[in-house]
Amino acid sequence: MIVDHAFTASERQAVYRVISERRDMRRFLPGATVPEEVLARLLQAAHAAPSVGLMQPWRFIRITDDRLRERIHALVDQERALTARALGPRGEEFLALKVEGILECAELLVVALGEGRDAHIFGRRTLPQMDLASVSCAIQNLWLAARSEGLGMGWVSLFDPGALAALLNLPDDAEPVAILCLGPVPEFPDRPALELDGWAFARPLSEFVSENGWAVANDR
Ligand SMILES: Cc1cc2nc3c(=O)[nH]c(=O)nc-3n(C[C@H](O)[C@H](O)[C@H](O)COP(=O)(O)O)c2cc1C
Repeated sequence: MIVDHAFTASERQAVYRVISERRDMRRFLPGATVPEEVLARLLQAAHAAPSVGLMQPWRFIRITDDRLRERIHALVDQERALTARALGPRGEEFLALKVEGILECAELLVVALGEGRDAHIFGRRTLPQMDLASVSCAIQNLWLAARSEGLGMGWVSLFDPGALAALLNLPDDAEPVAILCLGPVPEFPDRPALELDGWAFARPLSEFVSENGWAVANDR
């Protein structure tokens, strides 16, 4: 007997829809909130992610102290300036982009890699960075679940991890990897903000798929 494990057509459509309509958001409705039960569902979705050797390397730190939020924003602003300088001729253009919504978003989360990761060797002996890959799966789950709940999320990686770790009292071998801005948004654009701002443009799938080995650009 062949068992059909597929979801129904409308369920499948919802999965593909949330994948294509997820956006990185930097503009949030000021003063809005996320109901506690919704936040709990989103964190549960993140926690359901796959992880190498089932190590579950993620830690989620909810920032509810406004002073702390401001200090996190200051760290990001500092890194924004350093990034602009490192970008040289595109520095001014970069500074004109909106790259975070830390002060406006309803909820601010910091996601970190947990302590004691060296004990986990399964799947990481040659690829220790699989802990980061696992955390990224959790963040993507949260991102997709948030979109399905009508909430926007923005992933901010413009910060000095040592400085953020010190601010949040992380243990020595833990490491912050993401600041997540979450909450109600005025609208979801249908294209990445970086495209709308003319900073960068996504390339088509055909340029990233090859058969039986690496393809040089002209073969694809
Ligand atoms: C690991 C990671 C880090 C990112 N860091 C930032 C960031 O610091 N600031 C920002 O504005 N966007 C950041 N983004 C969002 C990307 O710019 C965005 O995903 C990309 O432009 C595609 O747009 P989309 O997510 O709306 O499809 C980050 C995304 C990822 C996956």
